[in-house]
Amino acid sequence: KAEKRATLLEINKKAAQYFYYQLRRENGKTAHDYLTGRGLSEEMIKKFGLGYSDKYSDDLYKYLKAQNYTDDLLRESGLFNVDERQGMYDKFWNRVIFPIMDVNNRVIGFGGRVMGDGKPKYLNSPETQIFDKSRNLYGLNIARTTRKNYLILCEGYMDVISMHQAGFTNAVASLGTALTSGHASLVKRYTQEVLLLYDSDEAGVKAALRAIPILREAGVNSRVVNLRPHKDPDEFIKTEGAEAFEKRLEAAMDSFMFRVSIAAGEFPMEEPQGQNRFFDRCAQYLLELSDELERNLYIEAIVKEYRRYGISVENLRKRVNSLAMKGTPAEK
Ligand code: GTP
Ligand code: MN
Ligand code: MN
Ligand code: MN
Ligand code: MN
Repeated sequence: KAEKRATLLEINKKAAQYFYYQLRRENGKTAHDYLTGRGLSEEMIKKFGLGYSDKYSDDLYKYLKAQNYTDDLLRESGLFNVDERQGMYDKFWNRVIFPIMDVNNRVIGFGGRVMGDGKPKYLNSPETQIFDKSRNLYGLNIARTTRKNYLILCEGYMDVISMHQAGFTNAVASLGTALTSGHASLVKRYTQEVLLLYDSDEAGVKAALRAIPILREAGVNSRVVNLRPHKDPDEFIKTEGAEAFEKRLEAAMDSFMFRVSIAAGEFPMEEPQGQNRFFDRCAQYLLELSDELERNLYIEAIVKEYRRYGISVENLRKRVNSLAMKGTPAEK
């Protein structure tokens, strides 16, 4: 079994080298232009080992087959689709390729992006014996060597590479999949603090809200960065530059206050009824905090932030206490 894993790693490495080479051939010009058109430097293209899978549907298959790998192994690599009529053919067709590396710089899978608006936008390797999506983070092989005491967690390949190019070499991505406790414990090995830079859309906010408790349970503190009005780190950096980006990182919001601010957007705050429900929601969040000092600090922070609605420390504390009474096990 260990031998099989080693062979699968070898197949992935050869495929990565093959894609890398294709990007530099005449046929790969469109792909190379696509990447430079998106602002990536030659240095980043090299550093992340980006490549191209061309328009032939079985060139990679033939290339690896010529090196005597069995169909069984090639199938297990996840690099091919199996079709009853056509047999095995390349999974990645006319896409720019992002090899996914583990922390030891071994290629464990691939992501491929269409150049333009086709669908699906990204195609990723399936999970295999060597690719566990919930235990690997894109870019961590590089980010782990930086001296910053926090990691930046974002959504996509392009975000990671853009940030690295702008000097934020501590950026990693969880690649489409939601953050898992496996990711969180991986993060915990390298740092105690994460800045969440998910996309500014609804999905990104939801993803951040879900990631916060998962990270906390692993002992990792998190803060949330607001990139608005831009969509994601890649676009932010492209339009505003690295300095403005750095300022946004510095202004990262405490994750508890981020939850509170999202809640504030869910109630009609111009009505007393909405305010009332919002502060009850705050009380609910505050009750989750077991540390009394911490709870008091956040009561004060909420009152400070939402003073305009006439909330006082006493009133908010009363709400927390009455909620605590309702919820005691004796009454349940
Ligand atoms: P660009 O348009 O290239 O800037 O990509 P993006 O990273 O901004 O895309 P998006 O925010 O839509 O998605 C974030 C990440 O989710 C991507 O980097 C992919 O890893 C993954 N993803 C996006 N679209 C798809 C898809 O259609 N299929 C799969 N499997 N994953 C996707
Ligand atoms: Mn091909
Ligand atoms: Mn997104
Ligand atoms: Mn995005
Ligand atoms: Mn993007």
